[in-house]
Amino acid sequence: MSSNSSNSTESSVHIDLGNRSYDIRIGSGLLQRSGSFFDLPHATSAVVVSNETIAPLYLERTAVALKQHFSAVHSVILPDGEVYKNWETLNEIFDHLLAQRCDRKTVLFALGGGVVGDMTGFAAASYMRGVPFVQLPTTLLAQVDSSVGGKTGINHPLGKNMVGAFYQPQRVICDLDTLKTLPSRELSAGLSEVIKYGPIYDMAFLDWVEANLDALRACDPETMAYAVRRSCEIKADVVSKDEREGGLRAILNFGHTFGHAIEAGMGYGAWLHGEGVGCGMVMASVLSQKMGLVEQAFVDRITRIVKRAGLPTVAPVLDAQDNVGRYMELMRVDKKADAGQIQFVVVDGRGTAHVRPAPDALVAEVINTCCAG
Ligand code: NAD
Ligand code: GLY
Repeated sequence: MSSNSSNSTESSVHIDLGNRSYDIRIGSGLLQRSGSFFDLPHATSAVVVSNETIAPLYLERTAVALKQHFSAVHSVILPDGEVYKNWETLNEIFDHLLAQRCDRKTVLFALGGGVVGDMTGFAAASYMRGVPFVQLPTTLLAQVDSSVGGKTGINHPLGKNMVGAFYQPQRVICDLDTLKTLPSRELSAGLSEVIKYGPIYDMAFLDWVEANLDALRACDPETMAYAVRRSCEIKADVVSKDEREGGLRAILNFGHTFGHAIEAGMGYGAWLHGEGVGCGMVMASVLSQKMGLVEQAFVDRITRIVKRAGLPTVAPVLDAQDNVGRYMELMRVDKKADAGQIQFVVVDGRGTAHVRPAPDALVAEVINTCCAG
């Protein structure tokens, strides 16, 4: 991983993965700049995959820039929402690619948040056994996390992101201007993944995030540019050491084991992914405290930061009859589960995370402590 920066809002982070290496470009006005798309694999056609909310805002400027490089630029507009991150919607992409006779050189462009990015990446991984794709993330969450690192896929009713592939993009282009139209609830959801990088990797970054939370919530351009760059640097470093999550990469799932259970248990879309992660980080901090890894003061600090970011800190009751049982059932389908044993990412308060099982009784205590009612 290396990064460079030409001014305070423009920078580039390199993710080092041998012949799958690529750059994450960060700056303002990048979507309409044809230079953003130089030196991509040569192809006749480009297909921009987006959704019905994002396309009216950003498709035209992107298509104009792409037309400098590709003779045909098509688009596929998907319905908007986590609830559509499924086989039926994925098939809409394949239907379009086949109907337009797109060949194996066609380059796909994912213009949107994590939902569009994950589905487009999976479509690119599987269409004709693999075509190149580029991430054009338009949410904070996608710019700091989901567009980087090559995890692609869809949800299954029995578990989140359960069907997918590791497949790296050719480039990631984070146009910070797109964040200006992001609803504040979505901005907060993205902040959860920014906050995450502190406890798992860099406590100085957590200090910086805490000191700059108001500017981040106000989407101040320079503050946001640094948050996106530092988050991408940390993610690039972790992914370049463990691309396929043999070990280290699992630390990026801090808060996600509890968070995914909340998302699935509430019904996809009721809680945003970032909201589940925010509350999940509070729960994982409580677990870390119950395991003797951190003091109560650390739990209080994470809770305060998550709350100030505009995220929920009290977990929902998923089943009035057997809440702990329902959480356990949902967490057992987590991809980190090992022979049915749930694995949790816990932290030590000094910027290091560990992936560990926990006794059911301790996890039950966490759920009872953190749930409403
Ligand atoms: P999202 O893709 O649903 O986008 C959030 C909402 O904001 C949508 O309604 C979208 O249409 C709208 N939107 C997007 N950009 C906008 C803009 N610039 N202006 C106005 N509205 C805009 O949600 P998300 O938070 O970006 O991503 C969540 C998804 O990412 C989840 O499915 C999660 O599982 C996945 N994810 C994947 C990874 C990974 O490594 N692949 C990591 C984290 C999360
Ligand atoms: N968002 C977790 C990962 O990319 O591994």
